[in-house]
Amino acid sequence: MASPLTIRAWQPTDDVQGITELLHRAYAPLAQAGLRYLATHQSAEITRERLTSGYPLVALVGGAIVGTATLYPPDAASPCELYRQPGVYCFGQFAVSPELQGSGIGRQLVAHLEALAGQLGATELALDTAEGAVHLVQWYERLGFRRVQYVEWDVTNYRSVVLSKSLSTRQVSAGGSPAL
Ligand SMILES: CC(C)(COP(=O)(O)OP(=O)(O)OC[C@H]1O[C@@H](n2cnc3c(N)ncnc32)[C@H](O)[C@@H]1OP(=O)(O)O)[C@@H](O)C(=O)NCCC(=O)NCCS
Repeated sequence: MASPLTIRAWQPTDDVQGITELLHRAYAPLAQAGLRYLATHQSAEITRERLTSGYPLVALVGGAIVGTATLYPPDAASPCELYRQPGVYCFGQFAVSPELQGSGIGRQLVAHLEALAGQLGATELALDTAEGAVHLVQWYERLGFRRVQYVEWDVTNYRSVVLSKSLSTRQVSAGGSPAL
């Protein structure tokens, strides 16, 4: 990668339409596999809603946004039993530009999510993804997440597997304090 990678909090001046297009491009292979993730087709308004209902991050290379992920606090009204638990933060709307996938940006975004969640008092970091997206489930398992349960969302056409990782004090401090 020619320019260094920066990961920072999303700012209201960041291009939401551009992030929406990045999401559509990144998630296109999942759509082609028949998995109708919201991010395969959501509008810019939905992108903004999802960004502003949590702690959104962007990854930049040479000033251009090449990745994003948003961290969400526990939600007592969530259909997902785990996401209702105090101390359990989750993340979503997670993508890296197809041209740069496989170069470690996703792993760095997850490390930032872990550190940020730890700073906010989380004891666990969780996520969900289509159970049929086997390559993703296996990747999250390589990052230390473990399968916990299943959940069905109204907006998708598949069952999701929920994965979670315990954030021990050691892991949080080892993640450092990213400039967010
Ligand atoms: C999932 C995603 C965000 C990960 O970002 P990334 O920058 O590609 O992640 P990394 O480069 O850190 O890691 C990718 C992993 O997939 C592996 N991989 C194998 N084939 C690959 C390929 N053709 N392209 C990309 N990664 C590949 C890499 O080796 C790496 O595994 P490792 O960390 O064990 O070495 C990104 O691939 C993406 O946007 N995918 C489409 C949208 C999506 O699936 N979002 C998550 C929904 S839950």
